[in-house]
Amino acid sequence: MNFNNKDIEIGIIGGSGADIDLQDVKDVKIYTPYGAPSDLIKIGKFGNKKVAFLERHGPKHILPPHSINYRANIWAMKELGVKRIFSPCAVGGLTPKTDKGVFVVVDQYIDRTYGRKQTFYDGGEVCHISQADPFCPEINDLFYKTGVDIGLNIIKGGTYICVNGPRFSTRAESRMFAQWGGDIIGMTVFPEVVLAAEMNMCYSSIATVTDLDCWASECPNCGIVMYGDKCSKCEGPIKPMVVSIEEVIETMNQNTDNLRKLIENVIPKIPSELGCQCSHRKDGAIF
Ligand code: ADE
Repeated sequence: MNFNNKDIEIGIIGGSGADIDLQDVKDVKIYTPYGAPSDLIKIGKFGNKKVAFLERHGPKHILPPHSINYRANIWAMKELGVKRIFSPCAVGGLTPKTDKGVFVVVDQYIDRTYGRKQTFYDGGEVCHISQADPFCPEINDLFYKTGVDIGLNIIKGGTYICVNGPRFSTRAESRMFAQWGGDIIGMTVFPEVVLAAEMNMCYSSIATVTDLDCWASECPNCGIVMYGDKCSKCEGPIKPMVVSIEEVIETMNQNTDNLRKLIENVIPKIPSELGCQCSHRKDGAIF
């Protein structure tokens, strides 16, 4: 299979677990008007599909979420011809339903970041793009149905609260985000999603819940996770939970095989022509 650097269909921006087993792999360096992407981009084939993979946090995870050059990453994907971005990510759960190990097909976000470059239209033309339904409904559907088929604990639809990080939230913030209707919390979906929209690309984010952030407490006797002051079962004292990076990495590693399996099962099902409107996202948005 030849690559002409313009005909890669699927782009994956993620970390461990998303680096699926590609054939005929080569690393390419892409130059963009916005500077360097997070890393060299791996291009290769998976079955009859050409795929590009980029480590969002760079080699050896050196880039914190607020320092990622999101514009360069998305530009580079567009440069390779990518039409559909898969964006696997690790998140905290903000509800009992979005428990550790659950996969969530994200369908909404609330942006709580600041200072990030969030548009390619910085002057001259202005782009007021709709973000009412930011994620590709067709690819989301494929991820959900495939997840169910391969036996994953997967939820269709969830609101992602995107915080700036790199710190985790306070308990008050975490509870507020849950009251706002947030299902999961992470640090990277924004502005990746809107920049992909400005490039008329499909974007689908598959979130793996690695922790319960810090809204919840756990009963050391019953092992139940709950919201409150005492155990709802034994009425004993409960311990407020605290998220740590060790916990995030440990759960992430436990879910690597499932994430890889999910992505590998979805890729062959992506038709060359989707029925979604993502390639028209920018129609009428330029002022
Ligand atoms: N990524 C994984 N867990 C997280 C959490 N609790 N808050 C923000 N980002 C996360």
